[in-house]
Amino acid sequence: MKAIAVLTSGGDAPGMNASIRAVVRTAINNNIKVYGIERGFTGLIYKEYQELTRHSVSNIIQRGGTMLKTSRCDEWKVPKGREAGAKLLQKLDVEGVVAIGGDGTFHGAHSFAEEHQIPIIGVPATIDNDIYGTDYTIGFDTAVNIALDAIDKIRDTADSHERMFIIEVMGRNSGFIALEVGIGGGAEEILVPEEKTNITELAERIFEGRKKGKTSSIIVVAEGEEEGNAFTIANRIKRISGMEYRVVVLGHIQRGGSPTSRDRLLGSLLGSQAVLGLLNGRTDVMVGEINSKIVFTPLEDSWTNQKNIDKNLFSLAQLLA
Ligand code: F6P
Repeated sequence: MKAIAVLTSGGDAPGMNASIRAVVRTAINNNIKVYGIERGFTGLIYKEYQELTRHSVSNIIQRGGTMLKTSRCDEWKVPKGREAGAKLLQKLDVEGVVAIGGDGTFHGAHSFAEEHQIPIIGVPATIDNDIYGTDYTIGFDTAVNIALDAIDKIRDTADSHERMFIIEVMGRNSGFIALEVGIGGGAEEILVPEEKTNITELAERIFEGRKKGKTSSIIVVAEGEEEGNAFTIANRIKRISGMEYRVVVLGHIQRGGSPTSRDRLLGSLLGSQAVLGLLNGRTDVMVGEINSKIVFTPLEDSWTNQKNIDKNLFSLAQLLA
């Protein structure tokens, strides 16, 4: 293998830089040239790339975001876009690609591998942690810790004003962030898309809690909650209970900042293993870590199978609230 390419695509996630660094240094240690493709699949179409050296990836392991930039590329969803990408890679003598991202990235990578027979390996990086085939995705741990820090601060003001706070965390289709943050932040209620919510019962529980002496409450809502966003839910609770509230949407703050040690380690491990996977002839797979072991899962399985949240944790949250 003479050369490989690496790209980051979809929502950025803290730890992506650690992963790029690991890809580059593992490849160079195996005498393989590395091209960094900029802005995800968009860079493959528009020939935006740079050769990466050991030095290009110095001093990035501690940085959030991605040094290669990222995008959600609609042009890649059609064969014409992917053809342009294949031409560029042939011109560069690239014999393997590492695509770092989430679900959308893996769809694009899979179609590319099928149509153009260019070996490609996915590295799971999304704060949502909603990818089957790995216990954790790169970026999740950092996002959870950022959200927890915010909730701890909100708790101080909630306590002082004796208020109910409804806090929305990211998670377009999944409640991994909400569940972990809800338990770690001592939330009274956690609302996620995977679990049906009865707002009337929830409002009654909060109201009962007040009667028993609770002076403030924290409700964590995942962005993808089926009953609506944090504002809608807050309004409905108020209509039932009459309680005053404030809403905080944490939003993109959860995607920024320095990655935690766990995300740096996971990014480094999976980035390095992706290159070794390519060297061992693997393609159209995602590299993940399950029970501390490296596992390769067909890219298609990463979205046809659903990664389930641990529903036992809801009982724990209720018990401890
Ligand atoms: O997939 C990661 C994520 O942060 C989701 O939690 C969120 O719904 C989405 O990306 C937001 O995407 P964008 O930054 O494109 O608005």
